[in-house]
Amino acid sequence: MRVLITGAAGFIGSNLADRFLAGGHTVIGIDNFSTGQPEFLVGARSSERFTLWEQDLLDLDALAPRFEGVDQVVHLAANADVRFGPDHPDRDLKQNVLATWNVLEAMRRNGVQRIAFSSTGSVYGESTVIPTPEDAPFPVQTSLYGASKASAEALISAYAESFGFTAHIFRFVSILGERYTHGHVLDFYKALRRDPSSLRVLGDGTQRKSYLHVGDCVSAILAALEKATGKVNIFNLGTDEYCRVTDSIGWITGYLGVEPQLQFTGGNRGWIGDNPFIFLETAKIRSLGWTPELTIQQSVIATVRYLEQNHWILDRR
Ligand SMILES: NC(=O)c1ccc[n+]([C@@H]2O[C@H](COP(=O)([O-])OP(=O)(O)OC[C@H]3O[C@@H](n4cnc5c(N)ncnc54)[C@H](O)[C@@H]3O)[C@@H](O)[C@H]2O)c1
Repeated sequence: MRVLITGAAGFIGSNLADRFLAGGHTVIGIDNFSTGQPEFLVGARSSERFTLWEQDLLDLDALAPRFEGVDQVVHLAANADVRFGPDHPDRDLKQNVLATWNVLEAMRRNGVQRIAFSSTGSVYGESTVIPTPEDAPFPVQTSLYGASKASAEALISAYAESFGFTAHIFRFVSILGERYTHGHVLDFYKALRRDPSSLRVLGDGTQRKSYLHVGDCVSAILAALEKATGKVNIFNLGTDEYCRVTDSIGWITGYLGVEPQLQFTGGNRGWIGDNPFIFLETAKIRSLGWTPELTIQQSVIATVRYLEQNHWILDRR
């Protein structure tokens, strides 16, 4: 297959690119390096089956020719940071909705019909059904990020119906592991390096979240692309467990051998739109034979270990 990955220099995109290349596929990466890191592509670049275009998805005319002859698009490029939506109210709209429309248009212009998309468990807003299955109603959005991903999903479904596309839409929980560059493990690790005696925690630490290792995330995407043959295939991706913020802090501090005083900012959510309980039902993706290999605790530790060995990331993000 000729696979085009948007956001190929990002955390998940670079891991996916490596896996497709290892499977013998040809990979075309597109990235504007807004949050992507050239270091993540060192391995991919050593393959003659890898091509990288430094390109912004918002420039459709420059983007479209890159899609010629592509069999499968995996659209991962986005503003992936949920927390700062209210600081930049147009960012999610441009980077997540308009960029997705450009990808769909570039596909249509070139007769490319298969798209995989990284959505999020945040589209469910604050679901009352937990664990939350794919068919749970999600009428109320609580973050600009979730709203933008729900909009992008809607555009993809409409293109599938209108132009005969096949779509695989993945609603991820938070992803951890090698090349992680954003999220609570990075924030806590950075803060503890500065001052191991105290740690500021957003909210009251009781927020319950589910996580998945990036290797398991990539395996699930590949399994679904191979086995799910519907027009619009929607899958939750996550583990069958969740943890509290304080559990995660315990694993991180235990691994680092520090005992900080925890300073809670209070309230049961960390920021506007923070969902205090995210836990997705994953029976559908498991029915394809996929199962995660790492627990949340193992994924948290793997992430800290990776950050320990890659301090350069701390200066970039
Ligand atoms: N990491 C998670 O926990 C998580 C959870 C749920 C969903 N997702 C989704 O998965 C996808 C990948 O997330 P990630 O964690 O790898 O994020 P990331 O920030 O590491 O990767 C995004 C990549 O897209 C690139 N990019 C952004 N805007 C672009 C544009 N306009 N043109 C070209 N390139 C652009 C960035 O430079 C970066 O390399 C995103 O769509 C994100 O919303 C991630």
